[in-house]
Amino acid sequence: MISNDNRQVISVGDPAAMATVAAERVIARISENPGRVAICLTGGSSPKKLYQLLATDALRSQIPWPRVHWFIGDERFVPADDPLNNMTVVRSTFLDQYAPTSNIHPIPTSTADPADPDRSAALYEQELKSFYGADALDPARPLFDLVLMGVGPDGHTASLFPDYPALDETSRWVVGVPKANVEPFVPRVTLTLPTLASCREMLFEVAGVEKRAILTRVLAGENLPANRAQSTGETVWLVDQAALPENFRG
Ligand code: 6PG
Repeated sequence: MISNDNRQVISVGDPAAMATVAAERVIARISENPGRVAICLTGGSSPKKLYQLLATDALRSQIPWPRVHWFIGDERFVPADDPLNNMTVVRSTFLDQYAPTSNIHPIPTSTADPADPDRSAALYEQELKSFYGADALDPARPLFDLVLMGVGPDGHTASLFPDYPALDETSRWVVGVPKANVEPFVPRVTLTLPTLASCREMLFEVAGVEKRAILTRVLAGENLPANRAQSTGETVWLVDQAALPENFRG
């Protein structure tokens, strides 16, 4: 049983409403930081509507692009032009249009050796440390303003799969995952739990009836990666009506 006392569950009508609320929260986190902003995005299908919204005139005009940096929580060893490449999806949906290239921080998997995912992980860890300006995370100074997350059918989040050793990593910021638990079954690189936790807000998006079974297990406090992923600041789960278990309906 995992206690997740600081988790706030916000129910929304449908995926469109979820994207609107998520976008408002992203903009709010950006607005409250007058300095350099760091947002960690996620792969999967759930955030695509949010990314499309961030590209609309109304929202993109509220983003101070030169001082916002964009990272990704996990990446797959697929070619850069493969639609299964998480950062490629994000870039083609909104980043490439508006963000300075130097503010986009992809995990180097497309040109790296898939047999050695730890090598790519070490390179990204170095990039994160140099951006942060220290080798150790200070709870008083979170790495990210916001970390976006999703949950998979087995309870994974980022590329942290149930019972994988990466879950217990406490010193490395980023690790290689030799084989995934779900499709695509390719090696991955993922940020570790302490790195993802170092944020002012961790925001999950969970929508669709196919997510109801895993959400029921998550909300029951089962020991699943998605439950172990908790921010040192606020942890918010946006859940749509179709995904919401019966006993959580108002
Ligand atoms: C990945 C993701 C992963 C994702 C969940 C949910 O690279 O696969 O980071 O953790 O968020 O699998 O995916 P969906 O949003 O597609 O359901």
